[in-house]
Amino acid sequence: MKKLAIIGCGGIGSYHLGHFKQFTDIVELAGFCDLIPERAENFVKEAGSGKAFTNYIEMYDEIQPDMVFICIPPYCHGEIEFETIRRGIPFFVEKPLALDLDLARRIRDAAEAKNLITASGFQCRYSKLVEPNLKFCRENEIVFIDCTRIGGVPGVFWWKDKDLSGGQIVEQTIHQFDIIRYTFGEPEEVCTYGTRGFVKGIPDYNTDDCSVTIVKFKNGTIGTISTGDYATSGNSFDSKIIFSSRDKRAELKILGTFEVFGEKPAEPEGENGGFVIKGDGALGKAGGSIVYHEEGDAGILCDRTFIEAVISGDGSKVRSPYRDAFKSVAFTMACNESMATGKPVKVELE
Ligand SMILES: NC(=O)c1ccc[n+]([C@@H]2O[C@H](COP(=O)([O-])OP(=O)(O)OC[C@H]3O[C@@H](n4cnc5c(N)ncnc54)[C@H](O)[C@@H]3O)[C@@H](O)[C@H]2O)c1
Repeated sequence: MKKLAIIGCGGIGSYHLGHFKQFTDIVELAGFCDLIPERAENFVKEAGSGKAFTNYIEMYDEIQPDMVFICIPPYCHGEIEFETIRRGIPFFVEKPLALDLDLARRIRDAAEAKNLITASGFQCRYSKLVEPNLKFCRENEIVFIDCTRIGGVPGVFWWKDKDLSGGQIVEQTIHQFDIIRYTFGEPEEVCTYGTRGFVKGIPDYNTDDCSVTIVKFKNGTIGTISTGDYATSGNSFDSKIIFSSRDKRAELKILGTFEVFGEKPAEPEGENGGFVIKGDGALGKAGGSIVYHEEGDAGILCDRTFIEAVISGDGSKVRSPYRDAFKSVAFTMACNESMATGKPVKVELE
């Protein structure tokens, strides 16, 4: 049986471990590495197999894994990937891959030079809602995309420092940027404004509270992506992506629902229904909607797809290999650059 190892036994590592425990029919849970020994030891206990390490080189030497999940914070990438590639080990790496695009480029090219199967942590691509979303974007000419994700500040120490996490767009709402790319298409240019000073009571907080990005897509569609981490209660939480065409609109709540408005005929109209002032260009009552609900667990499917790819040697079903994940990181990094310079920035996807 192929041997699996994990580097980084923190929050997202334990999410993956929860999945791995369901895959013991196809893979041996062999090695767990974290700089904090108790974290790796707890993973061994939880897995019921394998050995704990604090040094990944020692783990690689002793375990000789066939695949590895790299689940370390954004500022820690580089050396681990290059050593993994040097040894020819296929790897799954958590988003956002790295905080330096040149570094990510070199990792991408080195992995491809060795023909390694790679994957990244964009599990939303494995949602059952992706299929109707793709169909909607294929069959309708999308004029405008409007995305909002307002949440809170994650608890990990490195998150509040933009130099360590990449900030709220790169680290957190990159899932939204990624799913827009995957289901709709590629960005060409972004212009982002951010704000600070609204998150209170977190010592040394040093990143943006909220940002608004205007995106010009390659096909001429425009969009806005508004994301924030200032929310302290569910009342301010919001998360949705609207894809709007001339006669229909779809609303995606990632891993929740995909609702298409305008597929069904409208209810009969009252005399002035839908108009603000008759004749001002506002439209009458919209058609009814069709709702698709999420089924299954996209995270499990994401991890299993990579593991099965390594076992079979066929990486074609992996929906987010390193090369593609790089493009989502580049999309978000362009927003950071625009925020820093106050200028529109072209997205360098290659
Ligand atoms: N895909 C998702 O939805 C999702 C969700 C949460 C987090 N993440 C990503 O996962 C990554 C990790 O986030 P987290 O919340 O698990 O962070 P965390 O701080 O909880 O865990 C990271 C762990 O990595 C360990 N580590 C760091 N450098 C190491 C090294 N050289 N060798 C061994 N261990 C090392 C740390 O000690 C820590 O235990 C981030 O990039 C984050 O963006 C992805």
